[in-house]
Amino acid sequence: MATARPALARSTGAPAARIMAVGSYRPARVVTNAEVCERIDSSDEWIRERSGIIERRYAAKDESVADMSVAAAQVALRRAGVQPEQIGMVLVATVTHPYQTPAVATEISDRLGTLNAAAMDISAACAGFCYGVSLANDMIRGGSAQYVLVIGVEKLTDWVDPHDRGTAFIFADGAGAAVIGPSQEVGIGPTIWGADGSQRAAISMSQSLIDYRDNGGRIFPSLVMEGQQVFRWAVGEMSKTAQRAIDAAGITADDLAAFIPHQANMRITDAMIRAIGLPAHVPVARDIATTGNTSAASIPLAMDRMLQDGEIPSGGLALLIGFGAGLVYAAQVVILP
Ligand code: UT7
Repeated sequence: MATARPALARSTGAPAARIMAVGSYRPARVVTNAEVCERIDSSDEWIRERSGIIERRYAAKDESVADMSVAAAQVALRRAGVQPEQIGMVLVATVTHPYQTPAVATEISDRLGTLNAAAMDISAACAGFCYGVSLANDMIRGGSAQYVLVIGVEKLTDWVDPHDRGTAFIFADGAGAAVIGPSQEVGIGPTIWGADGSQRAAISMSQSLIDYRDNGGRIFPSLVMEGQQVFRWAVGEMSKTAQRAIDAAGITADDLAAFIPHQANMRITDAMIRAIGLPAHVPVARDIATTGNTSAASIPLAMDRMLQDGEIPSGGLALLIGFGAGLVYAAQVVILP
């Protein structure tokens, strides 16, 4: 016989959520293609043509994932006018925090003084920021947090082999943050997301840390990428995902005020523009040219730059799409802060 039990209280959230503000942090050191080519057999011309990258930023040796995150988050909190104590969750999308545990989100939360927040990391590579936006949206609507701090941050230079021709010129360092809070109007459209784990070897590590230890610790694990495979998948599948996010939001590409894809490769961005028939009047993020590919940080870095430069309007609709190692992806239309 079933035991009689009281009904549990239902948590209630806000009708909707929106991005209230973004902030970002770019490390000071600018690294040119010429400098990267000191360690790989390549050229400035090839890198510009194949990736669109002219230069990128590298963090200092003693500058950590947490340091960059705190800097970006402080800007976002100030702009949002939200106090640290109001944050209910700190979500940090990163794959380059060098400790297995604890999550870097806990250090960031402590340093920001978000005393009432839960904190955790998201491992969704270059889709991490869009995963975080989706989770924050659901948490705020579900009532588990009123304000969520979503950070995308990477120090890829710690994990990329500077002598690897397939990755050294692409990846770089930086951080972007968004404060997401309650709203009457829908500020974050439906997220189209997924994971194709059958392609998990396409972007991975050369070996595990356990193998590194047991093999005598000679060659440190580094990021390895089947560039062409990822490129083909991104152009083919991510264009469809972008279109599905537009459709799910109940808008058309003509309604967009910005297209901010993960800054993976300028040619991937251009192919997606053609595939979704993006009207010429819609500004497109091309932050990769001077920032490189910063994985989880690339979308908030690009969004912040475009907003600060007045290239895109506060209150306009922006299509975001992140994709990368897993292979994982997520896309949504948002109202720009
Ligand atoms: O952010 C996470 C998701 N990541 C991505 O979305 C990255 C997707 N992939 C890419 O962006 C591109 O595949 C790369 C930019 C990484 C590479 O560009 P690609 O056009 O796919 O180059 P490829 O591997 O097809 O190589 C083309 C040629 C080859 O020479 P041959 O066989 O045509 O003579 C390579 O040996 O370019 C050569 N090559 C290089 N040459 C100069 C490969 N790497 C380099 C290099 N410098 N660094």
